[in-house]
Amino acid sequence: MDNHITIFDTTLRDGEQSPGYSMNQQEKLRLALQLEKLGVDVIEAGFPIASDGDFETVREIGKVIKNSSVAALCRTRKIDLERAVASLEFAKKPRVHTFIATSDIHMKYKLQKSREEVLESAVQAVEYAKKHVDDVEFSAEDASRSDPEFLIDIFTAVIEAGATTINVPDTVGYAMPWEYGQLIKTLNEGIPNIDKATISVHCHNDLGVGVANSLMAIRNGARQVECTVNGIGERAGNASLEELVMALVTRKNIMDYTTSVNTKEIFPSSQLLAQITGKGVQPNKAVVGENAFAHEAGIHQHGVLKNPLTYEIMTPESVGLTCNKIVIGKHSGRFALCKKLEELGYHLNKEDLNQVYLKVTKVADEKKVVEEHDLISIMSMMNDMPARQPQSMASGG
Ligand code: KIV
Ligand code: ZN
Repeated sequence: MDNHITIFDTTLRDGEQSPGYSMNQQEKLRLALQLEKLGVDVIEAGFPIASDGDFETVREIGKVIKNSSVAALCRTRKIDLERAVASLEFAKKPRVHTFIATSDIHMKYKLQKSREEVLESAVQAVEYAKKHVDDVEFSAEDASRSDPEFLIDIFTAVIEAGATTINVPDTVGYAMPWEYGQLIKTLNEGIPNIDKATISVHCHNDLGVGVANSLMAIRNGARQVECTVNGIGERAGNASLEELVMALVTRKNIMDYTTSVNTKEIFPSSQLLAQITGKGVQPNKAVVGENAFAHEAGIHQHGVLKNPLTYEIMTPESVGLTCNKIVIGKHSGRFALCKKLEELGYHLNKEDLNQVYLKVTKVADEKKVVEEHDLISIMSMMNDMPARQPQSMASGG
């Protein structure tokens, strides 16, 4: 089995569906170009039936994107499919992504359709899409709460009709990693024509295990993961692209897979999304949060300054940050303080450093984080201490 993992980014579709994250056409175009630079294989550009704006945006994205595939989402209804196909007119690598719910609860209450009707609708949609594009993805919405036997039947039928990717969404973020892994294994082993399609997963994060579920799925045969920058998406969001990719990169020793992502573009992508939407990233967010590479505790700072590998499992440079951040706060030690002061041009002997350290801990108690300007003002108040030297002299240059 091929070990390449297709990265399907749905920031512009599922991500945009989350409250407060809607973007206009210009913003989506900017982000799409950045996603291409990031190296994602597929950009899901929108849901063209949702609005004229979404339709136009998918069309414009199709015009400018050259390397990534551009996907348009649609239900299995003819009118949705026509709109999706039309929106992809200019895309170099178009993909139609059609979906219908397969769980008993969705079929009974939302669709009011029987299993037979749902299966027929799915097959007709794939057949229609296949007449217009080669690359057709079918999603069984709420797959993780669907009967696996029915999933095997419907996936077998849509592959027969021409689907090249079958997606198994954990739409409501309900599955636990071992269950979800088992479901993917069951499908991989039970769908007779699975050699003609790629298994994809799409995990929501309602219980905080979207990334874990995606990794378990890969382990059991999935070769496409659907994810979003900063993990945005419906409700608690989708599996986060940066966490998934960096898990694969950092733990390659136990997960020997490849992706086409240029990890150095991860941080710039995260920042661009935050800037466009005006929604910052939570500070402790894995990989891209402000604190992901920041160290305040003295023992950690000492270790990191001697050798970053002591407390960093990946380098900040590998995700596009220039360096880690040593934060001076009440947990910091003398070693980090001394380094920080040296950066600012102050070279202190042990005794002076002890005095400054006492002052700094007092400020830290009040302020939580001691900024550079605080250090400079502390130094200026300390009598008999060396005045700040120009950086070039301080560094001996
Ligand atoms: O969560 C979901 O099931 C979806 C599908 C449309 C893929 O977003
Ligand atoms: Zn979703």
